[in-house]
Amino acid sequence: MNVAGKHYRTIWLKANTPEIVQIIDQRLLPHEFRIVNLRTVDEVAYAIKEMQVRGAGLIGATAGFGMYIAALQAPRTNRDDFLASIIEAGDKLKATRPTAVNLEWAVERQKHAIVAVPSITEMIDIALHTAQTIANEDADFCRRIGEHGLSLIEAIAAKKQPGEPVNILTHCNAGWLAFVDYGSATAPIYAAHDKGIPVHVWVDETRPRNQGARLTAWELGQHGVPHAVIADNVGGHLMQHGQVDMVIVGSDRTTYTGDVANKIGTYLKALAAHDNDVPFYVALPSSTFDWTMQDGLRDIPIEQRNGEEVRQIYGRRENGETDYVLLTPEDSPVANYAFDVTPARLVTGLITERGICPASAEGIGQLFPDKMRVGSKSPH
Ligand code: MRU
Repeated sequence: MNVAGKHYRTIWLKANTPEIVQIIDQRLLPHEFRIVNLRTVDEVAYAIKEMQVRGAGLIGATAGFGMYIAALQAPRTNRDDFLASIIEAGDKLKATRPTAVNLEWAVERQKHAIVAVPSITEMIDIALHTAQTIANEDADFCRRIGEHGLSLIEAIAAKKQPGEPVNILTHCNAGWLAFVDYGSATAPIYAAHDKGIPVHVWVDETRPRNQGARLTAWELGQHGVPHAVIADNVGGHLMQHGQVDMVIVGSDRTTYTGDVANKIGTYLKALAAHDNDVPFYVALPSSTFDWTMQDGLRDIPIEQRNGEEVRQIYGRRENGETDYVLLTPEDSPVANYAFDVTPARLVTGLITERGICPASAEGIGQLFPDKMRVGSKSPH
C-alpha cells in the first residue's frame, strides 16, 4: 500500500540488517508515521500487547517474525536448550492478546517448522523462511479476498445509476494496516475503486481506540477512496435511511461454524443490518478460522484491556502536540471489552481467499475441505 506515494508493507526486515524487524507504530497514526525496530522477543511481545501492531493478520505475521527473532536469540549450546527457548518465546508471544487466533496459529506453525529440521543453523533458516512465508501468504490471501469481494460490489453497482457510489460501512480497521498488505474488509473496496467503480465508505470511529477514525480513514485517504468518519452509533440510522448498501468487516477469530469475533460493536452493526436487510459480509483469510471451535459465543476468549483506553482519548492539539486527555470523571469505574461475537445467523457471507461462502459449517467446509478437520489443532 502507498504512504505518500511510497509502497509499504506493515512489517519487513531492515535493509542489510536481517536480524532487525521493522514495523510502523500504529499507536501514533495518523498524526505521526514512525518506524520502529524490533530486536528481541520482549520487544515483539510489547509491540503486540501495546498495539504498535494490531489487527489479526498483522498480529500473526508479527508473531511469525517474533519466533524468528527467538531463534536468533536462543542458546546454541545444544538442540534441547535451543528448542526450550523457542517454546518459552512462543508462550510469551501467545499470552499477549487472546482473541486473534492468527497469533497462536503463527506460533504453532513456526514450532512445527523449526522442530522438523536437524541442526540449529537450519532451524534459524527455517524460522526466517516461515516468517516470510506467513507474511507473503497473508498479503496474497488478502489480494485474493479483494478479487472475490469485488464481485459483490460490482453486483450492487450494476443496480445503481451511472456514477452513483456503492455505500459500504466498515468497523474498526480491517485494512492493510491490520494485515501485511491490502487488508481483508478493505481489499474489495480498493479493488473496486481501482477498477473505477464509485465507492464511498462509512468509517465507524470504533471507540475506545478509534482504529476506524485514526487508521481506516488514514489509509483510505492515502489511496484516494471517498469516505466519511461517523460516530459509532450512526450506522443504524444510515441503514434505516437506505444509505448503506452493504457492510464489510474483518474478523479476529471465526469458528468453523461461522460465528465471528471482531472488534467490539460489530455485533450491534450486524443486528442493525439484519433489521434493515443490509447484507453483512465478513472478510477473512483462512488463518483466522478456528478449526477446533464450534460455539463462538461460549468459547471465543474475549480480551479485556486496560481501562485507561476508555477513560482517555488520544489526539493532536492545534499547536501540533499529541497527547492523551481524560474523558470521564477521574474516579468512574470503566469496563473495556475489546471484542464481541456476531452469531453466524447474522452473517450474509464470508469472503475468503478461496471465494465467498455461507457462514456455516457446510459452507466453510465446501471451500476448505482440507482444513475442516473438526477437533484438530493442526496449524495447516
Ligand atoms: O484490537 P485490534 O485493533 O487488533 O482489532 C482489530 C479488529 O478488530 C479488526 O477488525 C480485526 O483484526 C479484523 S481485520 C484483521
